Amino acid sequence: MNFPATRLRRLRSSESLRALVRETTLDAGDLIYPLFICPGKGVRKPISSMPGVFNLSIDEAVKEAEECAELGIAGLLLFGLPETKDEIGTGAYAEDGIVQQALRALKKSDAAKKLVLIGDVCLCEYTSHGHCGIIHEGAHGYTVDNDPTLELLAKTAVSQAKAGADIVAPSDMMDGRVAAIRKALDAAGFTNTPILSYASKFASAFYGPFREAADSAPQFGDRRSYQMDGANGREALREIALDLAEGADMILMKPGMPYLDIILAARRKFGVPMGAYQVSGEYSMLKAAFEKGWLDEKRAMLEALLSFRRAGADFIVTYFAKDAAKALK
Ligand code: PBG
Repeated sequence: MNFPATRLRRLRSSESLRALVRETTLDAGDLIYPLFICPGKGVRKPISSMPGVFNLSIDEAVKEAEECAELGIAGLLLFGLPETKDEIGTGAYAEDGIVQQALRALKKSDAAKKLVLIGDVCLCEYTSHGHCGIIHEGAHGYTVDNDPTLELLAKTAVSQAKAGADIVAPSDMMDGRVAAIRKALDAAGFTNTPILSYASKFASAFYGPFREAADSAPQFGDRRSYQMDGANGREALREIALDLAEGADMILMKPGMPYLDIILAARRKFGVPMGAYQVSGEYSMLKAAFEKGWLDEKRAMLEALLSFRRAGADFIVTYFAKDAAKALK
């Protein structure tokens, strides 16, 4: 039926009517807050390209966790800035690595009862060269060596599970890592630790500010031999299918807003729990516009977050988690 019988504006005429027919919800319980853990005590070092985000020492991270729990945020995703780096990323899987220590401290806090603690599993913050795997120097230049890296990623995941991670989240994009991690977790007795796989992760310029936050920029070359080409939507679905076949319990889509089509395609194809990662560059560009007074902070932030839920994401990893939880109160 057409106009004048059909008038879609009828259901927009008051807030109560709009609320009644609202299709998508956004709640603090849908949000995961990333933390960058650094050595020291009482450290709260601002990240210049991400206003409002800090490198936090473990004691400060515990305070942050308590605030997040209070706000009803679902969980934390932990990244580590180790004291020292080496060729093989030893700090990623050390029993007393920075993330492992943080997990133990957080696990002891009251906040941990309300928060899901997720360990990011990757080597790039821990390697001297900044790549997500180990480097093999060959006659024709270097390669990021897939298969030997798997063992180190598996060790990282197991050490995080031992330290108290509720979920491990591999973000490296090596082939076969979900299977390697599942096998190692099971062998170590962690059959109930879920894997949240960054199944669809594109080589993106929007990770720029993160590399300042995590001090993880590659020292040579780039990540295009392991992260996906931004032009490839069909390949993303293959990546997801493979990770699920290898035993991923949940998938994470990354970046968010420039790849909303991929999130929607994944939701249509796979009935699995799925998160979207609104990455550092997405946060920074919005923040920059807010600082200039060009966008309304609260409305633009919530609109961007809602777009992920509408596209089909169950949860969102976002640096806005605290701001959004406050705005939604
Ligand atoms: C580690 C990792 C990165 C991000 C999450 N995990 C950086 C990268 O791949 O270069 C980016 C997150 C962000 O930009 O907020 N591999």
